[in-house]
Amino acid sequence: MSEWQKSDWRNKPRVQMPEYTDAVALASVEGQLAAYPPLVFAGEVRKLKTQLAAAARGEAFLLQGGDCAESFERFSADGIRDTFKVMLQMAMVLTYGAKVPVVKVGRMAGQFAKPRSANTETIDGVELPSYRGDIINELAFTPEARIPDPKKMLQAYTQAAATLNLLRAFSTGGYADVHQVHAWTLGFTAGEQAAEYREMANRIGDTLDFMRAAGLDSTQEPNLQTVDFYTSHESLLLEYEEALCRLDSTSGKWLAGSGHMIWIGDRTRQQDGAHVEYARGVQNPIGLKCGPTTTAEDLKVLMNKLNPNNEQGRLTLIARFGAGNVGEHLPRLVKAVREEGAEVLWTCDPMHGNTIKSASGYKTRPFESVLREVRDFFGVHASEGTIPGGVHFEMTGQDVTECTGGVRAVSDEDLSDRYHTACDPRLNASQSLELAFLVAEELSARRQQAQAQAV
Ligand code: PEP
Ligand code: CO
Repeated sequence: MSEWQKSDWRNKPRVQMPEYTDAVALASVEGQLAAYPPLVFAGEVRKLKTQLAAAARGEAFLLQGGDCAESFERFSADGIRDTFKVMLQMAMVLTYGAKVPVVKVGRMAGQFAKPRSANTETIDGVELPSYRGDIINELAFTPEARIPDPKKMLQAYTQAAATLNLLRAFSTGGYADVHQVHAWTLGFTAGEQAAEYREMANRIGDTLDFMRAAGLDSTQEPNLQTVDFYTSHESLLLEYEEALCRLDSTSGKWLAGSGHMIWIGDRTRQQDGAHVEYARGVQNPIGLKCGPTTTAEDLKVLMNKLNPNNEQGRLTLIARFGAGNVGEHLPRLVKAVREEGAEVLWTCDPMHGNTIKSASGYKTRPFESVLREVRDFFGVHASEGTIPGGVHFEMTGQDVTECTGGVRAVSDEDLSDRYHTACDPRLNASQSLELAFLVAEELSARRQQAQAQAV
C-alpha cells in the first residue's frame, strides 16, 4: 500500500462539504493557509493522547465542551473566558467527585463547519442552500449570504489563533490557579448548584490551608497553578484541514495542525468516505460519533481503519443515541469493541440525540432528556463492566436560554429571551454546572462500587 497523503481524501466520495464555485480564490486561500503556522504542536497532541489513554483506563475523565458552532459575529474575549471558566468549575466538581484528573478539551478554536440534515432551507416558499457554519457561508437568509466563500477560512484561522492565544494565557497565566476556586464563583447568581459549588470550594480552600499549615506550599506547585486545556472540532471542511496538516519532524508522522483533537461526525463517518480517509492519516487523537445507525460491523471496520495499531488514547467513541435509546444501541457497540479487543475511550454526548422543535418553533433540548441519556450511559457501562470515560456537551458560559429545564427552569416561552446559538441549542452556565454535579455523583458511585468489590 502506498503512503498516506494529506490530499488522498480528494479521491473519495465526499458529503456535507460545499461546492466552491471560484476555484482560483479557493486555491489562493489554501496556499495562504498552507504557509501559515499550525495552531497546535505535535508534543501537545501526544500529551493529550497519553491523558486520553488514562481516561480509557478509568484513571482520568474527559470533559469536552463548547459551542455547537463558533460564530464570527459573537466572537469575544468575554465569551471565551466564560466558557473556559465554566469548564474549570465543572472540572473541579468532577475531580472532586471522581478523584481522578479531568482532561479538559474545548469545542473551541476551530469548531466552525456544520453538517446539516438538509441541503436547503425553505422559508415562506423561498428555498436557499443551508447555512453550513461561518467558515463556509452566512446565516442570513439571502442568496448572497448562502454562497460558500473560501476567504472565510482565513477569518476562521485568525479567530482560532486568537482564541487559542487567550486560552493559553488563561491556562498558564494565573487565571486557572486552583487558589482562584472562590474567585470563579463571582458572577454566580442564586441557585442550588451555586451554593453546592461554594460549599465544595470552601472544602478545597480548607484543604489548601491545611497543606500550607503542614508545610506544603501549594502556591509553588505547578499542577495547581496551571491547567492543560486542549482544543477540538469536527474535521468537516477538509480543504481547511488539509491546508493546516503538517509533517512532524520529530516523529515523521502527520499532524492535523488545526486543533489538538478532531472528530468525525455522525453524518460523515462512511467507511470509504473522504472524512475517514483524512482522519486515519494524522497522529492526533480522533473522536468518532456513534449514533443509532452505527452498526457493529461499521464500528469494527472504522476502528481498524482509524486505529490500526490499537493505540490507547487514539480513538474516542462518542455515543449519541438520545434519551431512552442508549440501552438499545450501546450494548451492541460495546460488544463489537470487546470482540475486536479494541482500545477505545467511551464518552457520552447527550445533546445530539435529544434535539426537538419546541412549541414556540425553536430548536431545543430538554434538560431532563440530557440528564437521562447521561444516566443511561453510565448504567449500560455498569452492566457491561466497561468504563464510562468522559462526556461531550454543547454548552456556553453565558446565560442563554436555548435548552429547556434545569434548576433555574427555562420554559418553552423563555427560549426567545436569549437564544443566541448559530446552530444547535447549548446548555447555559447553570445547566452545565448542574450536569457536572450529576456526572460527579455517577462517578463517585462507580468508584465506591469498585472499592467495595476490591475489599
Ligand atoms: C456536533 O457535534 O455538532 C454534531 C453535528 O454532532 P453529530 O455528528 O453527532 O450529529
Ligand atoms: Co451540534
